[in-house]
Amino acid sequence: MPRCCFCPQAKDCSKNLQIRVVKCLLFVNGCRRKLCYTVVKAESRMEAKVKIAKKFTGERDEMATVLYIKANAKPDHLSRTMRIANAFVEKYQELHPEDEIITLDLYKEKIGFLQEEQVLKHLEPPAAGSQDPVLQYAYQFRDADKYIIAAPFWNLSYPAILKAYIDYITVVGVTFKYTSEGAAGLLENKKAVYFVTRGGNYSTPPFSEFELGERYLRTILGFMGITDFTTFAADDMDRSATDVEAVIADYIDKAAQFAAEF
Ligand SMILES: Cc1cc2nc3c(=O)[nH]c(=O)nc-3n(C[C@H](O)[C@H](O)[C@H](O)COP(=O)(O)O)c2cc1C
Repeated sequence: MPRCCFCPQAKDCSKNLQIRVVKCLLFVNGCRRKLCYTVVKAESRMEAKVKIAKKFTGERDEMATVLYIKANAKPDHLSRTMRIANAFVEKYQELHPEDEIITLDLYKEKIGFLQEEQVLKHLEPPAAGSQDPVLQYAYQFRDADKYIIAAPFWNLSYPAILKAYIDYITVVGVTFKYTSEGAAGLLENKKAVYFVTRGGNYSTPPFSEFELGERYLRTILGFMGITDFTTFAADDMDRSATDVEAVIADYIDKAAQFAAEF
């Protein structure tokens, strides 16, 4: 039975999806913002209800929630990575006006390292319908359909704040579970794209062996069930021979083409 975990009325109205959605629309905070937004944009209330119902039943062809995760200490206009990723996001929104894009700037969020209280919340699956604020990032991640991750290459990987975020979202019972055969992802049929720029070249041997950022992201998202993972990596950005602006323009073009199929 599809269920809206944030909706305090979900348990009373989950028998009929459309009735539940109408009830959800009466709430204007939290996740209901998205639903209300859809109603405003939709041509008719009925059309909106059908779209929302499709979303909850897993038919994501008409409307998707896209989580744009940014991890760079630099402002966007000074970041090669963000210039490419932002261009992709802009093109994606143009091509998919129905979709909701939620931007999560990890530095603005001031994501910290997991502390004792948070670690304890990660040991057991949360109770059904839990709205524990410690798990807010995990729920938000779980509820998205697509992920755009943008982070520069730092010390053979990515900024530590992105790993801190991953520690918040990798939660048993929310993004993965344990089975008799071992751990299994709970986020299947979703997709992710990763944008990165690097000072040197880590796409081809011998230094591709040292590349630990894309490799880790692909692995941990796969662990959560997200196996549709595409990377746009612009290498050699700090080499004097590189025409940085030309490379950025080229990647913006490639990313724009990919926005149509993502
Ligand atoms: C803290 C830090 C660590 C870096 N580590 C590496 C590295 O290990 N290998 C590399 O090729 N480039 C490294 N670089 C260079 C960046 O990857 C490169 O300049 C990138 O294009 C920066 O992206 P941005 O403009 O989006 O911030 C590092 C840069 C910084 C600031």
